[in-house]
Amino acid sequence: MWIADMDFPVAPAILSALHERLNHGLGYHMMAGDPQLMPLLRAHLATQGLTDLPDDGIAMLPGVVPGLYATVHALTTPGEPVVTMTPIYHPFHLAITDLGRRVAGVPLREGEHGYEINWAAMDAAARGSRLLMLCHPHNPTGRVWTPLELEKLRDLALSRDLFVVSDELHADLRFSGQSFESFAADPRVRSRTITLTGPCKAYNAAGLGIGAMIGHNAGLVKRVKSTAGGLMGHEGALSVTMWRAALRDAGPWLAETVAYLKDNRDFLSAYLREHLPWVKFTPVEATYLAWLDLRAHPRAGDIQKFLLDEARVAVHDGPVFASDAWKAQYQGFIRLNFATSRAILTEALDRMREALDGGMEKRQETEPAF
Ligand SMILES: Cc1ncc(COP(=O)(O)O)c(C=O)c1O
Repeated sequence: MWIADMDFPVAPAILSALHERLNHGLGYHMMAGDPQLMPLLRAHLATQGLTDLPDDGIAMLPGVVPGLYATVHALTTPGEPVVTMTPIYHPFHLAITDLGRRVAGVPLREGEHGYEINWAAMDAAARGSRLLMLCHPHNPTGRVWTPLELEKLRDLALSRDLFVVSDELHADLRFSGQSFESFAADPRVRSRTITLTGPCKAYNAAGLGIGAMIGHNAGLVKRVKSTAGGLMGHEGALSVTMWRAALRDAGPWLAETVAYLKDNRDFLSAYLREHLPWVKFTPVEATYLAWLDLRAHPRAGDIQKFLLDEARVAVHDGPVFASDAWKAQYQGFIRLNFATSRAILTEALDRMREALDGGMEKRQETEPAF
C-alpha cells in the first residue's frame, strides 16, 4: 500500500482504444501533437481556469517528474535555494538536490482543521530564491489549496518575484465536488508559471508515461522544454491514445472511481477513530494517499519496518517525503494508499491494528506504574 497507483482495472473505454491502436501497429505517433488530444486537453484545462492558452502553451512530456527536473534545471542555477513545502512527494526534493540546488523547505503546520501553510516561513524561504515548487493537490497530505491560500501563494510569487511550477497531477481526484482552481487560473501569475499535469493518477495508467507542461508564457515553456533538449524523447503512441480516450470517454469511470475512493477515505477515518484513536489523520480532500501520524506509538522510530514485519503491510515511510534536513521531523509518519477494495483495506487495517495494539500493550507491561 505504498506505491501511488490503484488496484482497480483500467477504464474499458481506455482498454478498447488501446486495443484498436495496437491493431494499427506501433509506429510513431504524430510528432506535431495529436490533433484530437490537444482540443480535449485544452477544454479540460479551461475547466480549471487555464483558459486562453497560446498555441505553443502546451508541450508534451514523458511524465510529470521529468517536467519537475526540467523546470529546476531551466529556471535556477546550481547552489540556489528552491522553495517547497514539506512533507512533499519525494521527486520534488530529489529534483532540487540531484541538480545541485538547495532545498528551502517549509514545513506545513498542523492547524485546527489539518495541514496549513506557514506564511511567515514561506516568505522567509522565498527570499533569495527564484522558484517555488507547488504540489496542488498536495501529496502526501491530500490538501487542495483553497482560493484564499492560492491568492496568498500568488501574492508571494509576485512579491518575491518567483517562477512557480505547479504539479497538478492529482487534480481530478478531488472529493469535494467543487471545481478545481489551478494556480495559474489568475492572470497575475500566468507569465511566471509552469503547470504540470497528466492522466496517470486519475486514470490509473502510470505504466504508460505521459504528461504535459502548460504555460501562458510560450517563451517560458520553450525555455524549460529546450533545457532538456532531446533527452526527454517523444511521447509514446499508446500513451497518447490512453490520454485521448480518458478525456473523451472515461468520465463516468472516473466519477465512479472517485466515489469509491471517497467512501474508502471515510471508512479509513471511521476505522481509525474507532479502533486506533491515537493515530492522527486529517481526512484528505483529494488523492487516495493518507498521511498518518503514528508518533505516539512506541515503535514510531522504525514504524515502516515494524508494520512490514509484524502486520505484513507495506507502506511508505514518512522521512521519504523530506530531504535530509527535515527527515527526522517525519519519522513516525506513514503514507498509506487506500485505492484498493474495501475488503483489502479492511484486512490491512485489521492487521495493522493487531500489530500496533500488541506494541502498545508491550509498552504498558514495561512502563512503571506510578
Ligand atoms: C504529485 C506527483 N507528481 C508526479 C508524480 C509522478 O508522475 P509521472 O509518473 O507522470 O512522472 C506523482 C506520482 O505519484 C505524484 O504524486
